Amino acid sequence: MAEIRKVGVVGLGAMGAGIAQLCVEAGLETVGREVTAELGQTARDRIGHFLTRKVEKGQFEQEARDDAVGRLTLTTELDAFADCDLVFEAIVEELEPKQELFGELDRICRPDAVLATNTSALSVTEIAAAASTPGRVVGMHFFNPAPLMPLVEIVRAELTEDEPFERAFAFGERIGKTPIRCHDTPGFVVNRVLIPLLNDCIRVLDEARVTPEDMDAGMKNGAGWPMGPCTLVDLVGIDVHVHASEALYEKTREPRMAPPPRLVAMRNAGLLGRKSGRGFYRYD
Ligand code: CAA
Repeated sequence: MAEIRKVGVVGLGAMGAGIAQLCVEAGLETVGREVTAELGQTARDRIGHFLTRKVEKGQFEQEARDDAVGRLTLTTELDAFADCDLVFEAIVEELEPKQELFGELDRICRPDAVLATNTSALSVTEIAAAASTPGRVVGMHFFNPAPLMPLVEIVRAELTEDEPFERAFAFGERIGKTPIRCHDTPGFVVNRVLIPLLNDCIRVLDEARVTPEDMDAGMKNGAGWPMGPCTLVDLVGIDVHVHASEALYEKTREPRMAPPPRLVAMRNAGLLGRKSGRGFYRYD
């Protein structure tokens, strides 16, 4: 199996920056692409901040931190991925832009490069259909916050070939994650279970007339969750959660997948959780 030496990440939002952070921490040369140089710099600052916190907490040496940040090259051009062995896509969660991107990556990247999408609720098979070589397209689905959550789902689309699939799995292990293998079904493994569960929690807020604080205390202290569901939806982003729920509902037609009206109203009002400063809770 050819070794992965250089990695590309398209889209340096919360998930893409987290993936890029994992790669540079693991010692890999990493190219990160954003649409503007300013957005790229914001992502680099974010990564630098979290690595500095590790130094402050004695988990990382200052020199190792500086070397890691130095391994990230920023670009606004896709051509910069021509010599990458693995390219992650972490752009907007919509099929059309993702398909367009995979069409371009397919043309730009070396034929033996693995192309991975971090989609959480779209079909990897449909994204891969835009590439003339869909056999090398896999899903590598990380969880938020990517640098902290151990899991990565390695998703086999209809036409994914064995070699790129196993390379993606081995790469997940190499960057310190716990990968699991699964097929391309709506929500894969964890979101198929977690999204309806979170939607149930939000519906129970109204049904049982419970406060977000008490719901969170309930699930933390009664079910052993590390973080309550309202805090978690605020962390993931209410817009992201609503979008994923809609995508899964469209595919499965299971009522529990549909986003609760309360979340849709919050999304429409711009209450997106942590990133907008207000969701179930306020963040100053
Ligand atoms: N990127 C990098 N580093 C980060 C970070 C981020 N986004 N967020 C926090 N950190 C770092 C910070 O430096 C922080 O330390 P300081 O506050 O001292 O600066 C440190 O990580 C926190 O680490 P801790 O170990 O202290 O955190 P914790 O023990 O409180 O655990 C947690 C945090 C791992 C997030 C835990 O609360 C947890 O497991 N929550 C559940 C999260 C979860 O379920 N995620 C899945 C969401 S669903 C999803 O992602 C699917 C999808 O497709 C939408």
